Amino acid sequence: MKSTVYFASLCAFAPSFVRCAGSGNPWTDATTFLTPQYAEKVTAAVANMTNTTLQVQAALVAKVPTFFWMDTADKVSNFSDILKLASMEKDTPQVVQAVIYDLPDRDCSANASAGEFSIADDGATKYKAYIDSIAAEVNQYPDVRIVFVVEPDGLANLVTNLDVPKCTGANSTYREVIAYAISNLQQSNVWLYLDAGHSGWLGWPANLSPAATLFSAVLNATTNNATIQGFATDVSNYNQLRGDVADPAQGTNPNYNEERYINALIPLLQQNGVPTQFIVDQGRSGRIDLRGSEAEWCNINGAGLGLRPTTDTGNTAIDSIVWVKPPGDSDGTSDPSSTRFDSHCALNTSVQPAPEAGVWFQSYFEMLVENANPPLS
Ligand SMILES: *[C@@H]1O[C@H](CO)[C@@H](O)[C@H](O)[C@H]1NC(C)=O
Ligand SMILES: *[C@@H]1O[C@H](CO)[C@@H](O)[C@H](O)[C@H]1NC(C)=O
Ligand SMILES: *[C@@H]1O[C@H](CO)[C@@H](O)[C@H](O)[C@H]1NC(C)=O
Ligand SMILES: *[C@@H]1O[C@H](CO)[C@@H](O)[C@H](O)[C@H]1NC(C)=O
Ligand SMILES: *[C@@H]1O[C@H](CO)[C@@H](O)[C@H](O)[C@H]1NC(C)=O
Ligand SMILES: *[C@@H]1O[C@H](CO)[C@@H](O)[C@H](O)[C@H]1NC(C)=O
Ligand SMILES: *[C@@H]1O[C@H](CO)[C@@H](O)[C@H](O)[C@H]1NC(C)=O
Ligand SMILES: *[C@@H]1O[C@H](CO)[C@@H](O)[C@H](O)[C@H]1NC(C)=O
Repeated sequence: MKSTVYFASLCAFAPSFVRCAGSGNPWTDATTFLTPQYAEKVTAAVANMTNTTLQVQAALVAKVPTFFWMDTADKVSNFSDILKLASMEKDTPQVVQAVIYDLPDRDCSANASAGEFSIADDGATKYKAYIDSIAAEVNQYPDVRIVFVVEPDGLANLVTNLDVPKCTGANSTYREVIAYAISNLQQSNVWLYLDAGHSGWLGWPANLSPAATLFSAVLNATTNNATIQGFATDVSNYNQLRGDVADPAQGTNPNYNEERYINALIPLLQQNGVPTQFIVDQGRSGRIDLRGSEAEWCNINGAGLGLRPTTDTGNTAIDSIVWVKPPGDSDGTSDPSSTRFDSHCALNTSVQPAPEAGVWFQSYFEMLVENANPPLS
């Protein structure tokens, strides 16, 4: 095996045998750290099952790395705990995976994942403090490789949903604070993947070019010579990476899976000088033909766990298959009396009753395990 010289400070002048931190595939020659919070949820879920065959399969999920979601500012201290644990591992380097997810007026086109900060109440300033606190944690653990997915759905909403007043109102703030996040998370132990929606959303031909232009504009608005490793797709969604059979939910979309979407987007990113590496969430993408349309996204009935995380992706533009959304966490509540109720969670293609977004959904987890493709073994 080729040894890797790891010498971040020389990166600017690096000869080809030096692999610089913060660039290249972060999972190469590294161990992905298992977030204890997820393993604990899975272990508790297994203990509550009555079907022993299913229990054996479900127990295997505790060994699959997922991402830790910093969906409120108080989760940054939990993230710090994870970094500390990872820094104590003997096998190094460790890759810690987390999601930056606290935009002011978050989830501007839907209700289920509305967040804690509002633009009207100085949310941009509060968001920047949240990013600063993450940067401070990152600086304490220079030997841990940290992969961040940056703001699922955030910029994608600005591509297609500017007709929604909450999104129009968020247009300039989202751009500004995402550029701030990228600018201030440029440490050499950080790899950033900006969220790029999914095939059934930005993959439609009419949306590709506007998406590439928006990503470019946000990167051009960064400071510190900032860059990103690339983009994350299909976060919390249900599309498959590849396959010759189009999901009927994709309608006439020629870019009907994540690889087709990525391959179509790359030349447009290149035209704008934007990085073209990707990661793809496949946590719940085991099965297709489950929904009436791609606009359905909430606790989809019949879904199964998908491809396991691997860097063996079959596409040099795809750094890794990942599980960003922890399977078993709900997409949103089906209770119409909740302030975060979104009608998508009460469609006849959604499993009900469902708890609030992010809350453990035991029966849904059991279904995902039972429908896993490939199966768990
Ligand atoms: C397991 O079952 C107990 C008793 O029904 C319940 O209180 C607990 O919340 C369940 N845990 C999970 C993870 O579903
Ligand atoms: C975060 O840390 C607090 C305080 O230690 C703890 O109560 C909480 O359960 C943790 N949450 C997660 C998601 O790790
Ligand atoms: C969104 O913001 C961009 C950049 O400031 C601006 O060019 C565009 O017109 C805005 N769109 C809407 C609908 O406000
Ligand atoms: C961003 O800057 C690059 C390099 O100057 C330029 O090619 C690209 O067109 C810019 N993007 C936008 C959206 O203006
Ligand atoms: C950005 O990069 C250029 C060229 O490499 C360098 O001259 C400049 O000092 C850098 N700026 C910052 C803020 O690091
Ligand atoms: C979101 O909530 C608002 C206010 O309660 C409601 O008018 C709207 O219909 C909801 N949207 C969806 C998609 O459920
Ligand atoms: C679900 O609802 C849609 C309309 O929203 C309808 O076309 C479809 O037949 C329904 N499917 C089932 C299985 O009831
Ligand atoms: C138990 O789980 C297995 C594996 O998922 C499944 O094939 C079987 O149908 C389940 N049995 C019952 C009684 O639900």
